[in-house]
Amino acid sequence: MRKDKPSRTAYKVALNIVTLGAKPEMDKFLPSGIVEVTEKLLVASGAAGVRTLRWARSQRMVSVYEAFDWMLPGQFEAFAHRKAFCERQVRDGIGTGANQILVLGAGYDTMAWRLAPQFSEVNFFEIDHPATSRLKGSGIETMGRRNNLCLIAEDLGKRNLVDVLETNNSWDQSARTVILAEGLVMYLTPQAVRDLFCQCAEVTGVGSRIAFSYIPTGTDGRPDAGRWTSLMLWLQKIAGEPWLWSIHPEELGPFLAETEWSSVPELAGTTDKHGVEYYAVAANI
Ligand SMILES: C[S@@+](CC[C@H](N)C(=O)[O-])C[C@H]1O[C@@H](n2cnc3c(N)ncnc32)[C@H](O)[C@@H]1O
Repeated sequence: MRKDKPSRTAYKVALNIVTLGAKPEMDKFLPSGIVEVTEKLLVASGAAGVRTLRWARSQRMVSVYEAFDWMLPGQFEAFAHRKAFCERQVRDGIGTGANQILVLGAGYDTMAWRLAPQFSEVNFFEIDHPATSRLKGSGIETMGRRNNLCLIAEDLGKRNLVDVLETNNSWDQSARTVILAEGLVMYLTPQAVRDLFCQCAEVTGVGSRIAFSYIPTGTDGRPDAGRWTSLMLWLQKIAGEPWLWSIHPEELGPFLAETEWSSVPELAGTTDKHGVEYYAVAANI
């Protein structure tokens, strides 16, 4: 990806959330407050202007996204389901004793900022590429800093997670933690994904969980985006954020076992594919 520029895919996810807010009935799925806070963050950080947001919330934009669903069926709404899945994982995790949350490749996600005041005894951390993290950080300064939210600007392709967190005084390696990797692992190389899971095990305590989304591998061995896979892969590549990793769902359990995690499908609460992605939860029990 273009490391000196804020992530385009993170920006697209955030705008998608704003447009989903304008789609009737989506409030049944979208986490409470997510649309308003995402809009606020995009403007406060300078990532998007008010005119862009007005456009994003228009019925025309809803129709544009719906029209693109012929290419990737269900993809528009999938972002609402993904956000709901991640927030549910964090709330469930806190409910069962987690007191540390780490969002990897956080982009413009607002979960940590929204939940931090409600769970003041929990420490929230986010990591993203410096260009994206700093832009978001400036928005958060404007919106109001949270004492229990720490934004870490690091390229996990350059510095490994263990080193990044070791130098952070607030991080507790023995704490029961929920890690989110939403829309992230497909952008990492196979080796980087394996290393990341192994390192996640090293930096967290017993009973921790990782919730993540992933792209399944197709019969031709490439990430499977349905009928338009070739076009999708090409578009991702020219956008500078190509998909590099995917896995057959039935291979996920053995893969996780090699990285010291156990796949726990019952915690995920869904085995459905949402748009192009599946959701999964792994635990270190
Ligand atoms: C598709 S966006 C998803 C953003 C967010 N998780 C969401 O779903 O709203 C992927 C994010 O991962 C970040 N990312 C990708 N590779 C990374 C790396 N090597 N180190 C840190 N962040 C990375 C990008 O900057 C981007 O913000």
